Amino acid sequence: MDLRCRIDGYFVVVGLMMGCLIGTCVNGDSNGDSVGAPMVKTEQDALYSAIQGFVGNWWNGSDLYPDPCGWTPIQGVSCDVFDGFWYVTDLSIGQIYDNSLPCAPNLEFRPQFFQLKRLKSLTFSNCIISQNQATVSLQTADWDSFSSTLESLEFRANPGLSGQVPTAFGSLKNLQSLVLIDNRLSGSLPVSIGNLTCLKRLVMSGNLFTGKIPENYGYLSGLLIMDLSRNLLSGNVPLTFGGLTSILKFDLSKNQLEGVIPSEISNLKSLTLLDLSNNNISGGLNFSIQEMSSLEELVLSNNPINGDLVDFNWQNVYKLMVLDLSNTGLTGVVPESVSNLKNLRFLGLNDNKLSGSLSPKLAELGNLTALYVHGNNLTGDLKFPREFYQKMGRRFGAWNNSNLCFPISKVSSRVRPFGVKLCRERQL
Ligand SMILES: *[C@@H]1O[C@H](CO)[C@@H](O)[C@H](O)[C@H]1NC(C)=O
Ligand SMILES: *[C@@H]1O[C@H](CO)[C@@H](O)[C@H](O)[C@H]1NC(C)=O
Ligand SMILES: *[C@@H]1O[C@H](CO)[C@@H](O)[C@H](O)[C@H]1NC(C)=O
Ligand SMILES: *[C@@H]1O[C@H](CO)[C@@H](O)[C@H](O)[C@H]1NC(C)=O
Ligand SMILES: *[C@@H]1O[C@H](CO)[C@@H](O)[C@H](O)[C@H]1NC(C)=O
Ligand SMILES: *[C@@H]1O[C@H](CO)[C@@H](O)[C@H](O)[C@H]1NC(C)=O
Ligand SMILES: *[C@@H]1O[C@H](CO)[C@@H](O)[C@H](O)[C@H]1NC(C)=O
Repeated sequence: MDLRCRIDGYFVVVGLMMGCLIGTCVNGDSNGDSVGAPMVKTEQDALYSAIQGFVGNWWNGSDLYPDPCGWTPIQGVSCDVFDGFWYVTDLSIGQIYDNSLPCAPNLEFRPQFFQLKRLKSLTFSNCIISQNQATVSLQTADWDSFSSTLESLEFRANPGLSGQVPTAFGSLKNLQSLVLIDNRLSGSLPVSIGNLTCLKRLVMSGNLFTGKIPENYGYLSGLLIMDLSRNLLSGNVPLTFGGLTSILKFDLSKNQLEGVIPSEISNLKSLTLLDLSNNNISGGLNFSIQEMSSLEELVLSNNPINGDLVDFNWQNVYKLMVLDLSNTGLTGVVPESVSNLKNLRFLGLNDNKLSGSLSPKLAELGNLTALYVHGNNLTGDLKFPREFYQKMGRRFGAWNNSNLCFPISKVSSRVRPFGVKLCRERQL
């Protein structure tokens, strides 16, 4: 599938080059001015009408921009020459640049907009901003008219954009990037998006999506980034997600997901970020995690995961820089093997039920800038060298461990870890 996507892209490039070879764009290239190429009337009218639908009837494109792809360019509109004629390839609407066109509160997707023949990239950013006025919806079946051209579709930071994601997005078969971030879209995630086998980036975070994650999203084997965080998604992490074999970043945080971490995720050999924090995931830390040897950030905080850290082969995930297991119901001791994670910068183990003493070896982690173990049941003397407390300051959190104490003789009170009581004299 991935191969097919790349071949499509290759044909587009070849097509362009051949267009030049047969002389249709030689004019523009050799003179360094693009006035040469004309624009098909229907394409030009479609552009004017599309933008008027986005920004309001006050905008008269034919008056202001008689040559929109040539000497009177419109901010946010890019064009390209195909067979000797200009076509619109990129549209960016909303407050992206200072002089960007502002969107109308009653923005509409006119039928003419869907007649743009070569649109590859469409972005609405900070555009549909008024939440109180008539809200804008994406519902129209016309999206499939972009099915053979559109490669990137983005709606970013549009709080006035509500309603469901149209099923017709599933017909945009060349789409490589679908970004729907920080809008007020709701309903369930369309199953049809699982058909978009060219997708490399799927970002739908910060909306009001509900229901389960469609299982067929796990067949998007070319996906590099999946971010469905900050929604109201429920159900399990689908077992099919073991099929996301190319994925680098996987973020399902801040939803209402439950069930276990599926062992199938051990197939994700390129994964660098796994964030399942702030859900209702349980069932212990599955050993399959330790097979994801490229992991750099593992964030599972605020889930009732339970289990312990003891039998984990931490040296397998030696690339870890961020390990956040705070508030996950962990029990048992903090094994000394955690100090094999030489690249760690952030270690969050706070607000668990961890017991036993902390190995002084943790202080040998050269890149560590934050170590949080507060809110546990750790015991004994803190035996880190004084430089460690000096380096960390408040980024070493050990308070609320009622049986943990600090041997005062070793460091001055100035660098005493916050909230840790002094060891009684007989313990010194
Ligand atoms: C734009 O202005 C021209 C000339 O002033 C006029 O003929 C045309 O009808 C206007 N178009 C719109 C859509 O208002
Ligand atoms: C996915 O694509 C297949 C084959 O093109 C089609 O039969 C199916 O209806 C599509 N599914 C959705 C949910 O659009
Ligand atoms: C979390 O999941 C458990 C089942 O594992 C369920 O009993 C509980 O109600 C869920 N909690 C929330 C807040 O959804
Ligand atoms: C990991 O999860 C699988 C199911 O996905 C389960 O069969 C296995 O026992 C789990 N292993 C551990 C150590 O939790
Ligand atoms: C610390 O970070 C630096 C730069 O990010 C890296 O080169 C080094 O290998 C890391 N590990 C240790 C143990 O210092
Ligand atoms: C904390 O650990 C001590 C033993 O070190 C144990 O007696 C106590 O019950 C533990 N407290 C909690 C809240 O788990
Ligand atoms: C310690 O825990 C208690 C209750 O669990 C909490 O109220 C208090 O704020 C915590 N102290 C600190 C310094 O976090």
